Amino acid sequence: APNAPNAHGDGTPPSATVPPLPDLPAPHLRDLPFTGGTIDALLREERVFRPLPQVVAGAVVNPQDVTRARARAAADPDGYWEEAAEELEWFRRWDAVHDGSNAPFHRWFTGARCNIVHNALDRHIETGTKNRLALIWEGESGDTRSFTYYQLYREVNRLANALRGLGVGKGDRVIIYMPPLPETVFAMLAAAKIGAVHSTVFGGFSARSLRDRMEDARPAVIVTVDGFYRNGRVIPLKPIADEAVATLPPDLAAGVRHMVVVHRAHMETPMTEGRDIWYHDAVRGQHHEALTEIMDSTDPLFLLYTSGTTGKPKGHVHAHGGYMVGVHRTMRWVFDVKPTDIFWCTAEPGWITGHSYVVYGPLMAGTTTVLYEGHPLYPEPGRVWSMVERLGVTILYTAPTLVRMLMRHGAQHVARHDLTTLRLLATVGEPISPEAWLWFHRHVGRGRCPVLDTWWQTETGMIMLSPLPVSLLKPGSVTRPLPGIEADVVDEHGKPVGPGHGGLLVLQRPWPAMSCGVYNDDESYRRLYWERFPGWYCTGDVARRDEDGYFWIQGRADDVLLIAGHRIGTAEMEAALASHPSVAECAVIGVPDALRGEVAKAFVVLVDDHPPLGTMVNADDLATELVEHVRRELGPVAVIREVTFREGLPRNRSGKIMRRVLRSEELGRDTGDLSTLEDGYV
Ligand code: PRX
Repeated sequence: APNAPNAHGDGTPPSATVPPLPDLPAPHLRDLPFTGGTIDALLREERVFRPLPQVVAGAVVNPQDVTRARARAAADPDGYWEEAAEELEWFRRWDAVHDGSNAPFHRWFTGARCNIVHNALDRHIETGTKNRLALIWEGESGDTRSFTYYQLYREVNRLANALRGLGVGKGDRVIIYMPPLPETVFAMLAAAKIGAVHSTVFGGFSARSLRDRMEDARPAVIVTVDGFYRNGRVIPLKPIADEAVATLPPDLAAGVRHMVVVHRAHMETPMTEGRDIWYHDAVRGQHHEALTEIMDSTDPLFLLYTSGTTGKPKGHVHAHGGYMVGVHRTMRWVFDVKPTDIFWCTAEPGWITGHSYVVYGPLMAGTTTVLYEGHPLYPEPGRVWSMVERLGVTILYTAPTLVRMLMRHGAQHVARHDLTTLRLLATVGEPISPEAWLWFHRHVGRGRCPVLDTWWQTETGMIMLSPLPVSLLKPGSVTRPLPGIEADVVDEHGKPVGPGHGGLLVLQRPWPAMSCGVYNDDESYRRLYWERFPGWYCTGDVARRDEDGYFWIQGRADDVLLIAGHRIGTAEMEAALASHPSVAECAVIGVPDALRGEVAKAFVVLVDDHPPLGTMVNADDLATELVEHVRRELGPVAVIREVTFREGLPRNRSGKIMRRVLRSEELGRDTGDLSTLEDGYV
């Protein structure tokens, strides 16, 4: 098969257990010109995957729909989003689709009344969806709990009544400090149902991170858990919540009226009299029907703090109406949802990906969403594939970091499982290197499933640049903006850089699920995203477009390397390194160089079947080979001065490589707050 990954395309040794691949469409070979734009474009990825006829034939959204939608959205953007809004239920229709009079604080569907929970739950109870599976949860130790839409509705209503009984009302903030449990989903929906504003804080964050977020959000109630299971260990959480509250200024600590504690890990848990209440006691005897608060479309639904590496955490505010329309439309279009789907987005509910595509998106679409409590490699590297097989997952949405982690352990773990239910694969969160894309496509999708690389941010609320299942795919490209989204790549003056050049990725038109602003900090929102190019949203990412108009994300603008006057995105250097069969994961940073201004330093994690680091006799040879490999792939500008082998890379809790930490270590600077780092990094 012409597209079969070769040494360049596949980090794993061939394994006899991998079944033969079906014939794939022929690649369309073409040379991309080497150009010296604002950001250099070095990576030459020429493979192209046309949609398979059976995918096109079965698609709910077919290529003609996409073409029509693009034309419609370009001619009449408000009309386009209005049609999207009409697919949902509202208590009162909008006066205007979009109001930009107070830009950059855009308002959507002004005058309308709605509640996202009405669309995610209540309305399904009147239809056949009522008895469908809404949520399948699996604990790390293998215990499972499943809920039909009706059962989920009842759970949410009981908690909504309990929260009301604890004095929580419209506009109050509820902090949800939880691992992935069904109660995490109940809490988000119950808060939203009664008009409260939820703010989830990832269960791996420290007391300090939680405290900072509470200081800003000033919650009335915290929902947390005694402890949870991760990587075979029980991790206590309630004591951390206690510590965070104890370190708040007294008036704010007193503002936390209650802590609702889920009983999960059967741990001895100190409870503060009058403040703390067990979840099961709070919901006991509560009625299973609850009134859904009628909200203005622009009323806040949640605050979500960006994983911001420096400074004060920024709470992005998303509102009921616009968020609901943007997430519903992208859920249905990108994932082409069908009644038979089992949808597994591996993100935690507490991240934006989890909000939009574990909780709200799948539930609004009436599909079945999967939630997993624990570590994806526990108790063995085949856990994810075993879950896909056992639950019959049809759509798997995950992060490149997980793909690489699984790739590192080898395709034999995948091959042991029957993954024929899968029909769509997708990734988000970081650039996916062509190697990882091809591995995912070949070994997990068995050449049948489109791999959709979706680009978006906490701030955008919804997927912005992404293929649809019927799109022509290029490994490593996010393809094009979705209908209704306008994006471009510009230089520092805002001038489009044209095909083949790299520059800043900007969004030139507001969209429904956009952030309404930073909580308590209008100025930051304006300055960080809108000041550079008035009227355009500056994403902070660098990208290039090719001559087909396809976008290739090159990394964060802050991480761009400047080597001998050439600006190079980290994604390309890392993709080139990752295409070497010995490399499992890698990160590249710039370090000062007297001659060239800056050169690259690479941090490399080797694949599992490589000799252990300490025993490797030829480490220097391998380093030299890697430097040469990158030079061959990208050209003489891509100078790597040094390769360091390590056991792991610093990642934040959502899996992104923290190059800032590597840079600070390298330059002997203070590494700053490390509490947001993933476990096990030393
Ligand atoms: O740098 C981009 C990267 O993740 C950033 C947004 O992070 P966060 O707000 O945590 O949201 C992540 C999940 C929506 C972006 O600015 N990013 C996200 N998706 C991609 C990506 N980089 C490359 N390719 C992607 N598909």
